[in-house]
Formats: sequence, C-alpha cells, structure tokens
Amino acid sequence: MSRSKGIFITIEGIDGCGKSTQSARLAQWLKERTASEVIRTFEPGGYPDGGKLREFLLEDSISPMPELLLFLADRARHVDEVIAPAISAGSHVICERWNESTLAYQSGWHGLDFSRAKSIIDACAFPEPDAKIFLDVPPEIAFSRVAARTKSDRFEAEGLALMKRVSSFYRWLESMIRIDCGAMDEDEVFASITRELEARLWLFR
Ligand code: TYD
Repeated sequence: MSRSKGIFITIEGIDGCGKSTQSARLAQWLKERTASEVIRTFEPGGYPDGGKLREFLLEDSISPMPELLLFLADRARHVDEVIAPAISAGSHVICERWNESTLAYQSGWHGLDFSRAKSIIDACAFPEPDAKIFLDVPPEIAFSRVAARTKSDRFEAEGLALMKRVSSFYRWLESMIRIDCGAMDEDEVFASITRELEARLWLFR
C-alpha cells in the first residue's frame, strides 16, 4: 500500500551547522525521488505573518518558561497553518528545527528542567517526524561560519559557549539520526543524509 500522507523530516543542529543548505538539497532530492511536492519550512516563524513572533523571539531576552511557551505557540501555529495541511494533502515537509531545538536551547542552554520541558512539549502532541536529522558539526567550525555573518541574533551572540553546550545536549538526546559531519564537505554530508533516508525503506512505500 502506498502512503497517502507526506513524509515529514526535521533537520536539527547548532547555528552554522548547514541546516538551510542541506534542507534545500534534500528538498530537490526528495522531489525527484518521489515525484511529489516538497515544502521547505523553518522555525521560529515559518508561516504567513510569522516574521513578527520570529523577530521577537530572536531579539528579546525573556526567562526560560515564557520563552519555551512562546516557541511552542509558534510551533502550534506552524502546525495548523503549514505542516499539518501539507502532510494531509500528501506533500512532503522538510522543517529546520523542531521539538529537539526547544529541548536543546530552552533546557540545555537556558536551564529549564528537562522533564518539565519534555512533558509540556509532549502534551502539545505535535506531529511526530518520520525522520529527525541532526547535523553534528564541531562547534568550533559552526562558530567560525556564524562569526563571518554580518548580523547575529541573541542566540548567536552568546558565541562558542552556547554552541558547545547545545551541541552536547543534542548528542545526549539520542532521538535523532546523527550525521557525524566532522570535517566532511557539503557533498559528503548530503550523501550521508540520503544514505540514511534510503535505508528507511518504509518512508518511500
Ligand atoms: P535559526 O533560524 O535556525 O537561526 P539561523 O538561521 O541563524 O541558524 O534559529 C533561530 C534561533 O532560535 C536559534 O539560535 C535557536 C533558537 N530556537 C530556540 O531557542 N528554541 C526553539 O524551539 C527553536 C525552534 C529555535
């Protein structure tokens, strides 16, 4: 039986790990591989008019609990307005960042109790991705890429310390397909991602 719903893939990792680059390549690949529409999206703010909340979240410092709830409110709108309708219509969705970002940043970096954060996220019952890809790039490499950008948001401004902490938290989560990027170039990372996805044959039935 072929699947009627779209495939839902999330891409995780610290800033500067290459999420956007790999998401764009993966979208093209998935479109050719399945002959179906692929939607690329991101968090926070990946829905029409999502720029306002995104700007607030990236610019204004707030304490960890309201921060977590606002990221989840953002996700709830994203699900209702973009992700759930697309998947139900049979389109595939590739989303940069998802629940693991919230755990890694709000708990791993901002110190919100992990079980509390996880139970609040679980209670939201957002769609479960078919595959969650974690681009594990050494923080020093990601940091040098981000440092080269002209404008940095409040997360990036926290520098290498944040990246090291979030990176080790992502590793500890263990719920994702970890791509050990090391010093791999873009093509090698992409080849690893597609190899991992091809190994999950049920995705393409
Ligand atoms: P992102 O747009 O990926 O930044 P960039 O495009 O510069 O790589 O993400 C913006 C920031 O939001 C990122 O530093 C992590 C943070 N974030 C959280 O803290 N919690 C969340 O739940 C999400 C989705 C993002």
